[in-house]
Amino acid sequence: MNLSIFTKTSILSPTLSSRIILNRSISNSITPTPIISRCYPIPNPPISTNPKTPLFLRPPTFSATLSDLQKWQNWAKTLASSIGSTFTDSDNGPNSENLHRELNWLIEDALENPQFLQNPQFIENPQLQLRAELGDLYELWKQRIEERRPFQYVVGCEHWRDLVLSVEEGVLIPRPETELMVDLVEGVVKEEEDDDDDGLKGGLWVDLGTGSGAIAIGIARVLGGFGRVIVVDLSSVAVRVAEFNVKRYNLQDKISVKQGSWFEPLSGFEGRVAGLVSNPPYIPSGHIGGLQAEVGRHEPRLALDGGEDGMADLLHLCNGAASMLKSGGFFAFETNGEDQCKFLVDHMETVYYGSFYNLKIVKDFAGIERFVTGFRS
Ligand SMILES: C[S@@+](CC[C@H](N)C(=O)[O-])C[C@H]1O[C@@H](n2cnc3c(N)ncnc32)[C@H](O)[C@@H]1O
Repeated sequence: MNLSIFTKTSILSPTLSSRIILNRSISNSITPTPIISRCYPIPNPPISTNPKTPLFLRPPTFSATLSDLQKWQNWAKTLASSIGSTFTDSDNGPNSENLHRELNWLIEDALENPQFLQNPQFIENPQLQLRAELGDLYELWKQRIEERRPFQYVVGCEHWRDLVLSVEEGVLIPRPETELMVDLVEGVVKEEEDDDDDGLKGGLWVDLGTGSGAIAIGIARVLGGFGRVIVVDLSSVAVRVAEFNVKRYNLQDKISVKQGSWFEPLSGFEGRVAGLVSNPPYIPSGHIGGLQAEVGRHEPRLALDGGEDGMADLLHLCNGAASMLKSGGFFAFETNGEDQCKFLVDHMETVYYGSFYNLKIVKDFAGIERFVTGFRS
């Protein structure tokens, strides 16, 4: 999960910021803002029966004249410009420059031929095909600015690694730093000499609290023709969205999606899991009210709130790892940063003395200690 409009710490490494621009990644921070003066009510996410189709995947069945679209674009630009640095100053939210970039992405997703809006001299027919009605584009952009609805919910997708994942209210938008989780798995799998069922590559992998299914889909692609993955989430919206994304990448034979609490749907797999990964809720409850509006008002509390000190789910996962992983099995957990990493390693070294080896704290792209990894003895 991440921080400033771009990363959890609000300090962007050059690498991360360029990835964000290239990848259209999230700009929502979940770092509490320094001044916690407001506490927003957290709305219950609307329960969707079917995941919504992301805008860019919808058929271009609507049309508008070039001049009407230009009117909309000018209105949307003016609204974006009017924000200046207001959101940034209030809670580290997006500034006008960020919003103008998002507007271009919205145009890319909504128009069949977005290049014609930028270069109208090449148009023969002044009608442009759209994937949403023009009236909806007005409404979506108002929601983005006036309600601070995250851009990813507005267009229904997030670009993450080499994937484009469907997301909607009720599901956490996957963050850039979490991409590293897949690299960590790739690293340990590549070190292995054999691909047999007893090892890591050919074994059973589990992603707990899968959300959109991002990490699991990344891992399934790393495993290639080997192994299989089970993903678990308590949220019914997350389960439906993860299923949608798994099918879109044609991985339904490799990834099973289960609804339930943490290890509950995995009974019978004790001591048989080759790899266990999770990016659980880890924000201390008291910090939720100080989050950037896009996050605190719109993303699901179930995905954010890690209890009083943010450690409740991480400790539960760590305890479960001891019983679920087979000998030599690998785990990787994402945390809120240095303090949680250290606490977790200390817990594993003392309470689970001798149960794990090669425990490591791994930094994210922004240089923040973010992940704890290790192996079951
Ligand atoms: C921080 S989000 C991570 C989502 C996704 N893995 C990612 O990295 O984008 C935490 C996820 O844990 C899920 N969750 C919360 N409590 C849970 C529980 N008791 N059992 C299973 N999943 C849970 C939430 O619904 C949410 O999808």
